Amino acid sequence: MAEVLVTRRLVDDAMAALDCEYDLWEGPPTAIPRGEFLRRAKGKDGLLTLLTEKVDAELLDAAGPQLRVVANYAVGVDNIDIPECTRRGILVANTPDVLTEATADIAWALILSCVRRIGEGDRLLRSRTEWIWDPRMLLGQELYGRTIGIVGCGRIGQATARRAVGFGMRVIYHNSRPLPDEIAGPLGAELRTFDELVAESDVISIHCPLTPATRHLFNASVFARMKPSAVLVNTSRGPVVDEKALAEAVRAGEIFGAGLDVFEREPAVEEALLDLDGVTIVPHLGSATIQTRTAMGLLAVENLQAGLRGERPRALLNPEAL
Ligand code: DGY
Repeated sequence: MAEVLVTRRLVDDAMAALDCEYDLWEGPPTAIPRGEFLRRAKGKDGLLTLLTEKVDAELLDAAGPQLRVVANYAVGVDNIDIPECTRRGILVANTPDVLTEATADIAWALILSCVRRIGEGDRLLRSRTEWIWDPRMLLGQELYGRTIGIVGCGRIGQATARRAVGFGMRVIYHNSRPLPDEIAGPLGAELRTFDELVAESDVISIHCPLTPATRHLFNASVFARMKPSAVLVNTSRGPVVDEKALAEAVRAGEIFGAGLDVFEREPAVEEALLDLDGVTIVPHLGSATIQTRTAMGLLAVENLQAGLRGERPRALLNPEAL
């Protein structure tokens, strides 16, 4: 019987779908400590990991040569050294598609919170501050007729752009390659260079993966070139944004606000962001709906079990390892 390590309890339907013996790490609300991960991976045929676990050569050495599959419970795989897994013939799979719409919804929740100052309004009332309807109270930014810039226009970027059309926004995007006409056409989406997008957008929504090229893609010099009325929203990976520089840009009024679902040193949040009214922050909730987390769990388990049977996982990322 195959031996598997699951690094965190998933929703019940996904746990029930695991038809193998498994070692489950259930700790306090922290990621599995590294030492524990290295120790418990030893001798396992499969790993079901979260985005909080680093799967690198050290971990693969600790696991041993029988490891056949790493099923990541996330679409983002910046936590996994895929070339190293491929070199060792270990299959790597993720959970694409099933979280696209939920993540686009969170991007929009953040956009709306930033432009209409929802977080600030909520905090005002909860602090029991006296208030009265006032023509100048908590004025935000209009979305209708304005421009959204999508950075990284894959599945989630496109879903975010589709929602923008409903808000009457013009869509521009920056991507490694142009979208095919059948996708760009209905969105009215126009390709821009990164610098053009930064200067033109009223809302920038980040959907690119974290790679060495995108680390701190958004930094002080970029914020200085954004419109002072613009907002920046990040639902991809925290290190794409230089958080200290972002806090300074919002504080100095270089940009109107920012909405973050992900953080540079997650789970830590840059202290300077916590006191800024123009910033909405939520704890990496992009895929956090009952439906999506169930679908992610079932897909991760399906990927794991296919790999253990020697079959091709549905969301295999490294077919060269087969
Ligand atoms: C992912 O899947 O990469 C998200 O960040 C968590 O759902």
